[in-house]
Amino acid sequence: MVNSTKLKQRVSMKNIAILCSGGDVSGMNPALKHFVEYAQKKALTPYFIYDGFEGLIDNKIQKASYCDVSGIINRGGTKIGSARSKRFRDKEYRALAKKNLDTLNIEMLLVLGGDGSFAGMDLFYKEHKIKFCGIPSTIDNDINGTDYCLGVDSALSIIKTSIDAIRDTASSFKRAFVIETMGRNCGYLALISYLTSGAELCLIPEVKYDLKSYEESFKEQINNGRRYFIAIVSEGIEQESSEIAEWFEEKIGVESRVSVLGHVQRGGNPTIYDRLMAYKFVTYAIDGLLQGKDESVICYTKSGFQYKSIEEVTSKVKELDPELLLLLSE
Ligand code: F6P
Repeated sequence: MVNSTKLKQRVSMKNIAILCSGGDVSGMNPALKHFVEYAQKKALTPYFIYDGFEGLIDNKIQKASYCDVSGIINRGGTKIGSARSKRFRDKEYRALAKKNLDTLNIEMLLVLGGDGSFAGMDLFYKEHKIKFCGIPSTIDNDINGTDYCLGVDSALSIIKTSIDAIRDTASSFKRAFVIETMGRNCGYLALISYLTSGAELCLIPEVKYDLKSYEESFKEQINNGRRYFIAIVSEGIEQESSEIAEWFEEKIGVESRVSVLGHVQRGGNPTIYDRLMAYKFVTYAIDGLLQGKDESVICYTKSGFQYKSIEEVTSKVKELDPELLLLLSE
């Protein structure tokens, strides 16, 4: 006979699911691991939704256990897959998604993604009252209301290693290297990498630039014995990286090469900081949902962790920290 207390416990256990949406980041796997462990600690039954909102629509939802998350803490990417879903923008597909969650009695959701994913969840919540907490996760670090998004430290670490390696070859020749970082329309990755790598030039979408203003000084530096230049440019600036390289050749008189770092920035072993942030973000997200915060994003700022509204997070384009911008202009 089943013990009646155990039976009651089983009946009252709530179900919670997690999904990853948009560009993956190193830090998602540590977040998945802690999600399973912490949900179970809080007497919740954890579920994985595979392949983001696409999987939610297609009912790719499965109960998760310790076995699913063993050996993943050191791996980049996300074990449950991610996607950019166009279908989730459509009301009919959101209704299907709700039906799938209802079938499994899932009433709470953690969403690892960017502001686009949170805006989608906002609609979902308004229509179907599925409680959720967003965890800012994008290497672009472009989400308003949070100073930090999961995955940024790991991406910066890869960029650092790449720039250091390029410096070795740049210094062996007399060359200029134009290194392009990701970031979509946000120059955060490029700016931090510039400030911490000793590069000579940084171009980001947020700051207007005039290459002419560097010409005199760069030519003088060559005359004084400089052998190489490193320029960090963010995707999203007005010009192509190849045009910056041409400028080095034509106006500064130095042979140049372009290195687009691309998707290597999104992969690799999650740093300690991202593992810790994954742990903290997930803890706060689950705690928030259990405390009745039905629709929020857990943000991290200088004042610590705070639950913010979707409106606050999605209504404004994030501005780069003025303190950092000041360092660029000095
Ligand atoms: O948002 C993360 C990001 O890596 C951006 O920096 C980049 O512009 C974009 O995703 C690349 O997208 P995809 O992986 O779909 O090519």
